[in-house]
Amino acid sequence: MGRIEDFVVFVPFTAPQDVARVQITSLKKNYADGRLLEIISPSPQRIKAPCSVFEICGGCQWQHVDYQEQLHQKQLIVEHALQRIAKEENILILPIIPSPKPFYYRNRAQVRAEGGKVGFYQRHSHNIIEFEKCWIIDEKIDQEISQIKKERVGLDPFKTAKIEIFLSEDGTVYRSLNRAHAEERGFAQVNTEQNMSMIDYICSVLPGPATVDSDNQGSRGNLLDLYCGNGNFSLPLNKMGWRIYGVDSNRSAIHSAREKANAQTFYSAGDCLVEVKKLAAKNRKYEVVLLDPPRIGADESLWPELEKLKAEKLIYISCNPATFARDWARIKKHSPYKIISIQPFDMFPQTFHVELVALIQRNIKNL
Ligand SMILES: C[S@@+](CC[C@H](N)C(=O)[O-])C[C@H]1O[C@@H](n2cnc3c(N)ncnc32)[C@H](O)[C@@H]1O
Repeated sequence: MGRIEDFVVFVPFTAPQDVARVQITSLKKNYADGRLLEIISPSPQRIKAPCSVFEICGGCQWQHVDYQEQLHQKQLIVEHALQRIAKEENILILPIIPSPKPFYYRNRAQVRAEGGKVGFYQRHSHNIIEFEKCWIIDEKIDQEISQIKKERVGLDPFKTAKIEIFLSEDGTVYRSLNRAHAEERGFAQVNTEQNMSMIDYICSVLPGPATVDSDNQGSRGNLLDLYCGNGNFSLPLNKMGWRIYGVDSNRSAIHSAREKANAQTFYSAGDCLVEVKKLAAKNRKYEVVLLDPPRIGADESLWPELEKLKAEKLIYISCNPATFARDWARIKKHSPYKIISIQPFDMFPQTFHVELVALIQRNIKNL
C-alpha cells in the first residue's frame, strides 16, 4: 500500500518505502489499484525474489521482501485490522511467531497439466506456467512434480488434468489425479511444523497436567471444538485431560477425527450454527469453546447462541485478521468477553496471509 499525496493506492509487488512509478488500473472513491512500472528508489527491505516465476505465478506475493520485514508487516496487519474494524487500540498482540521454515514449508501442492505442459496456473488466469522448482513447497513434493513432468502418465493431451501431491506426516508422498482430493480428505493445515507450534501454544494456554496420563482424560472439563476438521487441535487437548465435542461440516474430516477418538471425545458432522443452537436448547455448558472457522469467519447468528453456553474461555483461531476483527466486534455486542492476548503465527511465509490465535476470557474486569 502506498500513497499519492494522501490518496491510498494498492500496488502488488511493491515494498514499504519503495518510491515507484505506477499506473493506476482502477480508481475508486477512497483508493485506487495500480500496476508497478518502475522502482525509482528501492525499499531497504527489498530483496531479489529467489523464484524465477515470481510475479507471474499466483502462489506468492511477498518473495521480494526480506523475511523479517514480512513478519513486521504481518504484525501490523493484525494491529490495523483490530483498530480499523473492531475499534480496539489496546489489545495485547504478542510478537508474531516466525515459521520454522520460511521456504519449502507447504505439505501439499496442486499442479495442472495440459498440452504437454505441467505447472501452476498463472496469476489471474488459466494459463499454465512451468517452473523449475517451487520455493514454498516441500522438496519431496517438488521431486514428485519433476517425476510427473518426466512420466506424463495418464495425462490426456487435450484435457487439463489436476494433480494434487501431498506429503503425509510419516514422510510419504501421495499424488492424486483429477479428484477433488482436498475436499474428500477434509481441511489440513499446510505448514506442518508451524501447525505443531500452534498446537503447542494452544495446549500451553489451557491448563492441563504436566505429564499425559490416560486416566486423566476428561477431568479438565468440557471443550467444544467448532470447525474442528480432523480434530487437529482437540485431539492433543483431549490428551491433556479435556473432554471434547467437535463439530465440522466435512464428513471425511469427522471420519478421520473419529478414528483417533476415545470415550472422552465425540465428533459430529454438521453445521456449527445448527449444532450450537441444539446444545444451547439442551442447556449444555462448556468451559472452553475453540473455534477455527474458514477465511470468511463465522455466521453472525452464531454469537448470541454461543453466549448461551456460557464458556469461560474462547480460543478463536483465524487465518484472516479482517474477518476475525469483524467477528470480535460482534462477539463484544453479545457477551461480556475480553481479549487476553492475540498470538499471530506465520503459517504462510512469502504470502500476505496471516494466522492468529486469540485468547478470550469471560468477565475479566479492568484489563
Ligand atoms: C480453517 S478449517 C479448520 C479445521 C481444523 N480446525 C484444523 O485445524 O485442521 C475450517 C473448517 O471449517 C469447516 N466448516 C466450514 N463451514 C462450516 C460450517 N458452517 N459448519 C461446520 N463446519 C464448517 C470446514 O470443513 C473446515 O474443516
